[in-house]
Amino acid sequence: MRSFLTSICILSALVATGNSLICERCTNLHGASCTGVSETCGASKSLCIATLKETFMESHKRQIFEKACGRKENCWNSSMTAGNFRVTVNTLCCTSDLCNNGKPKLLSVNTTLNGQTCPSCFSSMNANSCDEEETMSCRGEETECIQFDVVKRGFVTELRGCATEQMSDSRGKAAFPEKSIHVINFSKSNCSTQLQCSLFLPAAVGFLLLKLFS
Ligand SMILES: *[C@@H]1O[C@H](CO)[C@@H](O)[C@H](O)[C@H]1NC(C)=O
Ligand SMILES: *[C@@H]1O[C@H](CO)[C@@H](O)[C@H](O)[C@H]1NC(C)=O
Ligand SMILES: *[C@@H]1O[C@H](CO)[C@@H](O)[C@H](O)[C@H]1NC(C)=O
Ligand SMILES: *[C@@H]1O[C@H](CO)[C@@H](O)[C@H](O)[C@H]1NC(C)=O
Repeated sequence: MRSFLTSICILSALVATGNSLICERCTNLHGASCTGVSETCGASKSLCIATLKETFMESHKRQIFEKACGRKENCWNSSMTAGNFRVTVNTLCCTSDLCNNGKPKLLSVNTTLNGQTCPSCFSSMNANSCDEEETMSCRGEETECIQFDVVKRGFVTELRGCATEQMSDSRGKAAFPEKSIHVINFSKSNCSTQLQCSLFLPAAVGFLLLKLFS
């Protein structure tokens, strides 16, 4: 009887909304799974999505899992590392009713140094307290240098570090998809023009000095 009623409900939901997409919706702020209610997506949202966001601060790990209706620009597999903070976001995006009942595939972590060096900072104390000299070596697919501030309830955190191309393309938003968090002041750090960013600078300076004084 119960499943019969459920079927009627789903059926009438389908009839009432024409061919709108139906997705599962739920949020778990402290874990990697959730189950929730069905929601009918608005016309502008043509995908069902399931997003697993993992943050690492020193050795402290936090997982946030969310299922919802979404758009193509909510689909990311990306990561960034800023000082001792790291965030990875993996999204499952699909187009059929309730298809987001699964989990996104987690990309394996690639820790191989990739040769890029970026300005590095994670400063939640206050904005503009980053050490301009601080740099980090990038790993795996995090080949771009980016920097931005995030604002949550008026509280500003400044991030500088290595990011994947998708993270850079999202202008930092992929790392902070939450509606309550605003990403501002995004820019790609331009390492080739910053002294401390150049891997080969010591050699270049040595060469210049040699040229100047020989
Ligand atoms: C994310 O990775 C999964 C598994 O490799 C892949 O199926 C999916 O298309 C990727 N999504 C994006 C937006 O790159
Ligand atoms: C890991 O990252 C390095 C540096 O970007 C790259 O050369 C290598 O192919 C990656 N390995 C895998 C398994 O993706
Ligand atoms: C960051 O953005 C805020 C607000 O838009 C602005 O007042 C501030 O000057 C910006 N800071 C930098 C370093 O660009
Ligand atoms: C990066 O370099 C380009 C060209 O050298 C320059 O026009 C641009 O202003 C630089 N951007 C930053 C953020 O330093």
